[in-house]
Amino acid sequence: MADFAATREMFYLPEGVIYLDGNSLGPLPRAAEAKVAATLRDEWGEMLISGWNKAGWMEQPGRIGNRIARLIGAEPGSVVVGDTLSIKVYQALASALELNPERRVILSDSGNFPSDLYMADGLVRSLGQGYALKVVAPGEVEGAIDTCTAVLMLTEVDYRTGRKHDMAALTAVAHEQGALVLWDLAHSAGALPVDLAGANADFAVGCTYKYLNSGPGGPAFIYVAPRHANKVRPALSGWLGHEAPFGFDLTYRPARGIERMRVGTPPVLQMAALETALDVWDMVTMEEVRARSIELTEAFVAAVEQACPMLELASPRNPLLRGSQISFRHEEGYAIMQALIAHRVIGDFRAPDILRFGFTPLYTRMEDVVGAAAILAEIMAKALWRNPEYRVRHRVT
Ligand SMILES: Cc1ncc(COP(=O)(O)O)c(C=O)c1O
Repeated sequence: MADFAATREMFYLPEGVIYLDGNSLGPLPRAAEAKVAATLRDEWGEMLISGWNKAGWMEQPGRIGNRIARLIGAEPGSVVVGDTLSIKVYQALASALELNPERRVILSDSGNFPSDLYMADGLVRSLGQGYALKVVAPGEVEGAIDTCTAVLMLTEVDYRTGRKHDMAALTAVAHEQGALVLWDLAHSAGALPVDLAGANADFAVGCTYKYLNSGPGGPAFIYVAPRHANKVRPALSGWLGHEAPFGFDLTYRPARGIERMRVGTPPVLQMAALETALDVWDMVTMEEVRARSIELTEAFVAAVEQACPMLELASPRNPLLRGSQISFRHEEGYAIMQALIAHRVIGDFRAPDILRFGFTPLYTRMEDVVGAAAILAEIMAKALWRNPEYRVRHRVT
């Protein structure tokens, strides 16, 4: 049985802070400090370039990929780590389009993260030849999938509202229509059980700095279904995805399987942090995390709705239809969030009016939920957010 008091102990959390933003940036796993220091000193420092062979740096992306695979229901050997999520979106999408060469439409929704849509738009412009990005409302996705759809590209959990798509159902509809599916798991991996293999997904991508706690700038991951892995052209054909990188052949030949989705030199230090961060996941199951997440989010919704009728719930009320975050709407959402942060409750704000709170059972306790709701109630009751200081816009919201 999961011991969430023990998992919380594995993180460094600043004294007196209620942290409800692990859906944006996970906190520091205590062991990461020593691990990164040791990687710096004993590996980079002592081994110098021989670290690539002696310390296993070259195998790190696949080794870590396998540990992430377990959390997202992916087959062993189907996930590799590297680059940023935006890059992996581009790579997966470009690769998927080539597997469906007769079709020209990328279908996505307006709940998708803008970077995914920007990357798709950029790709469409580079490709020309009639390629197009079609964006519909989240509720209209199913009906918009047709025989023109080459790739359905969706983020499973909406970054603003937490609304969750039905991955298995939408994948099945897309396949019936002859389309491939790319899932962005940025707000799913480590947040709720994901079953990529069971859903028959084609491609998936996600990041590690949110629920997986790899730290700012931690690398992304990419999944390619084993049935495609030896057929797909990786689109970004970098030397570390080559069959024989140190053959220095002038002609590109993709490596076998998921290794071909690697591009260039991996971020070894950040991966050291990630590898350590993943240890905590060996102590829990995703089902236990999900059950606790639902308890925490339900308690938060009930407490906030009772004390703050002026805040409108933006997340689905049914916990099964949302991820591990709760969002409320208010036209002064930015100032309210700044007031909360000044009172040491950290969530974030997403334009135009969303107050967003992430619930991460590995280190979020019920007392944090109760405390955060009480502070929010006080800020609303006394209109503390009216302080002009809280209206100053920062670069990151
Ligand atoms: C759903 C989703 N996709 C893509 C991105 C972009 O990720 P990155 O900045 O790592 O490229 C984010 C970032 O938060 C995201 O939430």
